[in-house]
Amino acid sequence: HRSLTLLGLESSCDDSAAAVVQDGTGGPRILSSILQGQTGLHAAYGGVVPEIAARAHAERLDLCIETALAEAGLTWADLDGIAVTAGPGLIGGLLAGVMTARGLAAATGLPLWGVNHLAAHALTPRLTDGLDFPYLMLLVSGGHAQFLAVEGPESFRRLGGTLDDAPGEAFDKVARLLGLPQPGGPAVEAAATGGDPGRFALPRPLLDREGCDLSFSGLKTAVLRLRDRLVAEQGGLRESDRRDLCAAFEDAVATILSEKARRAVALLPGATALAVAGGVAANRRVRAGLQAAAAEAGLRFVAPPLALCTDNAAMVAWAGIERARAGIAPGSDLIARPRWPL
Ligand code: KG4
Ligand code: ZN
Repeated sequence: HRSLTLLGLESSCDDSAAAVVQDGTGGPRILSSILQGQTGLHAAYGGVVPEIAARAHAERLDLCIETALAEAGLTWADLDGIAVTAGPGLIGGLLAGVMTARGLAAATGLPLWGVNHLAAHALTPRLTDGLDFPYLMLLVSGGHAQFLAVEGPESFRRLGGTLDDAPGEAFDKVARLLGLPQPGGPAVEAAATGGDPGRFALPRPLLDREGCDLSFSGLKTAVLRLRDRLVAEQGGLRESDRRDLCAAFEDAVATILSEKARRAVALLPGATALAVAGGVAANRRVRAGLQAAAAEAGLRFVAPPLALCTDNAAMVAWAGIERARAGIAPGSDLIARPRWPL
């Protein structure tokens, strides 16, 4: 097939990003991937503030795009199209991205595709590892937790997902409960080093239930109760309490995800691999559990490099290329949609 080069834009949450991906005879290549995070802008508020995020995206996207083109060594004339995340996410950021992309498409005459952010995450293992359909995908981030059967560029079957919190959200809340910094995932993982996961008994929500639905809010509440008990008994938390609580929490999340992954594997017999994406996929205990579940089933385990597991624009450009190759007409899905299930 002929070579395709797309510019991708991402602004659905708190990262402004632009990237250029080229799909030629040697397979896809990321020519540039620029990302400007906003952690510092929201730090004082304890979470992403939509108004601040939207304004920052509107201010920063242009420079991200210019830099992405420059780093790729390309001009507008070298591109075959543009792809932009149109949902799901925060409406202000989505609008900033879609409006920017519409303006660029009008000015350059390039075709423009709207992309579903979750589809972009789910298609990333094809960009990084050339996976063939169908494969299993576990998306675990600060906002999402779902098992997907990825059966085609436009075909995602949800096998199960969280009924309450996302696991990253649970990591963040546990960090707050224990006085650890944000983002909570890396802080909890660091604090858990050398901890005894067996000292505190934490629940394994939904493990006794069939299918691959997930639940994490009970786990967080259990950590809260244990913390309060320790504080009441001892007047505070010892370093070792924090270490063991973090280890127990991490162990519970890893066990739940790997056990549910085993069930997901059984639901897609022809799968070529078990792939994972999202910030929580950075966790070593979680990765090890999933890897073991895949190995038991004789399945390949694929975890893209972290920069492509978390939000980025290369995955958006790639999803645009997939849409173009699938014959989806440009101009589709260009309405910003805060809610857009796969
Ligand atoms: O995918 P992501 O970067 O952003 C979105 O949510 O879209 O995921 C961020 C989440 C945060 O909740 C963060 O605490 C969690 O991923 N996370 C981790 C680790 N690194 C990041 N959770 C557990 N262990 C980690 N090492
Ligand atoms: Zn994401």
